[in-house]
Amino acid sequence: MSLRALLLASAASAVALPAFSAGQQAQIPLQPLDHSQGYQFDPLLHLPGISPYFDAVGFGLEHKAPEGCNVSAASYLVRHGAIYANDKEYEEYIKPFLWKLEKHRDGWSGPLSFMSKWQSPIEEDKLEELTPSGAVDAAKVGKHLLERYEDLVPNTKRILADKKSRTYDTAKNLIKAWAHNDTIDIVRVTKNKDGAMESLIPHKSCDAFSKEPGAEEQETFINIYGPSVATRLAPYVPFKLTPKDVVGLQQLCGYESAINGKRSDICGVFTDAEWMAYEYAWDLKYAYMVGPMNPLSPYLGFPWLHAQSKIFQSIDERGTPGEGWPDEQRFFLSFTHREVPPFVATALGLFNSSSKAVEQFPADHINWTRAWRMADLIPFLGHVGMEKMTCERGAVSGEGPGEFIRFIANTAPRPIPDCQSGPGASCPLADFEDLIGKGAERHKDFHKVCDKKDKKKGKHE
Ligand SMILES: *[C@@H]1O[C@H](CO)[C@@H](O)[C@H](O)[C@H]1NC(C)=O
Ligand SMILES: *[C@@H]1O[C@H](CO)[C@@H](O)[C@H](O)[C@H]1NC(C)=O
Ligand SMILES: *[C@@H]1O[C@H](CO)[C@@H](O)[C@H](O)[C@H]1NC(C)=O
Ligand SMILES: *[C@@H]1O[C@H](CO)[C@@H](O)[C@H](O)[C@H]1NC(C)=O
Repeated sequence: MSLRALLLASAASAVALPAFSAGQQAQIPLQPLDHSQGYQFDPLLHLPGISPYFDAVGFGLEHKAPEGCNVSAASYLVRHGAIYANDKEYEEYIKPFLWKLEKHRDGWSGPLSFMSKWQSPIEEDKLEELTPSGAVDAAKVGKHLLERYEDLVPNTKRILADKKSRTYDTAKNLIKAWAHNDTIDIVRVTKNKDGAMESLIPHKSCDAFSKEPGAEEQETFINIYGPSVATRLAPYVPFKLTPKDVVGLQQLCGYESAINGKRSDICGVFTDAEWMAYEYAWDLKYAYMVGPMNPLSPYLGFPWLHAQSKIFQSIDERGTPGEGWPDEQRFFLSFTHREVPPFVATALGLFNSSSKAVEQFPADHINWTRAWRMADLIPFLGHVGMEKMTCERGAVSGEGPGEFIRFIANTAPRPIPDCQSGPGASCPLADFEDLIGKGAERHKDFHKVCDKKDKKKGKHE
């Protein structure tokens, strides 16, 4: 059967399902669109790490609690909002391109004619600071969280950020829409008291962690797709684009859109396939650096999970979160960096494929069927949330109410592969505690894997 015939056949069987209103004779589509439903490729949804915030689609489970369930506590780990550019990406890809652009203002043509007058929106003296549009987006995410947890948010009195201005400023802006914002204490975590730094910025408490893994694989892949893009664009560009220039130009689509709060013209320059190659180059890098290809990742994701489940447990047993949290607080927010949500996702397998096969990241071609898609987790303001729910039915035994845990990534619920038998594919609390207990046991050697063997060398670095 051809693909078209198959699509038609399945469309026909969909029509044959019982109609909602019994008297209705024929089913007609609500809107006479073609089969693509007006689908348009959007590069901003394929830029891991550098796109403005968007809600992920996930698996189609709703962000609001499943029927019959109430959320009784929630904790979110939030990446800071849009910055002007990441230092390293700026130095490696963007700046060399901008340098050449300054020397060649003439000779741009065709789809790139606008480059002769284009100005970089990146302010070099504040590269890693929150941008004004990043601040606006933070307030929007805060408003969404308030609507989603209107009973819990008003009791939030303490929020965590780290010493960087971009996390603190994001926190300040995120709570703008909360009426009680003047009573909130944004605490900057600068000491590892009770493991606070290990859960908020675990990679910075881990000497063995480095941002190097994946660099080589990524370069290999960039050197495969970059040259063909450069060749395609050569007629419109006054100098020879290197593969790194191609990456720099693609990054400017993300950063310019994030800085100005509107889509950059550069986003229209590349084909869909070129964006998918860019996306893979970064999923590849993140897989090796902060994901399933780095054996440190689950060790770095567990401290946060463990700390939150301790808070939830304490709320259950003592009616207070303990550990220095205000007694009434039930909604928790921690502001961190792009590395940390992927560690947590890796520890739980939230971005694993449903097959038991180990994820594979070849450096010479795209793995189209990978589940690891970081564009959906770490745009600016990307977040992973953990909810504790009470549901009417679902007691371990009998008919009474039951307790469940659910994970959310950018408003989309993401089931834990090993535990999804509860309402809305959530995980029964007892099973979750078991899972975390086992994980904590397996990953308790944080210091053993993190502390550099050669202490002396580490100290003098
Ligand atoms: C605090 O909330 C009020 C009311 O929502 C708002 O007008 C004000 O700007 C907020 N203040 C800060 C510092 O965010
Ligand atoms: C997720 O995938 C990784 C690597 O592919 C594997 O080691 C891990 O056990 C998986 N986790 C779950 C929860 O299935
Ligand atoms: C892609 O990754 C999956 C696991 O997620 C693996 O089973 C498959 O072999 C990989 N495919 C390619 C073409 O590398
Ligand atoms: C959820 O909250 C509503 C409103 O407060 C309440 O009527 C209902 O009984 C609660 N359900 C559960 C399972 O706690």
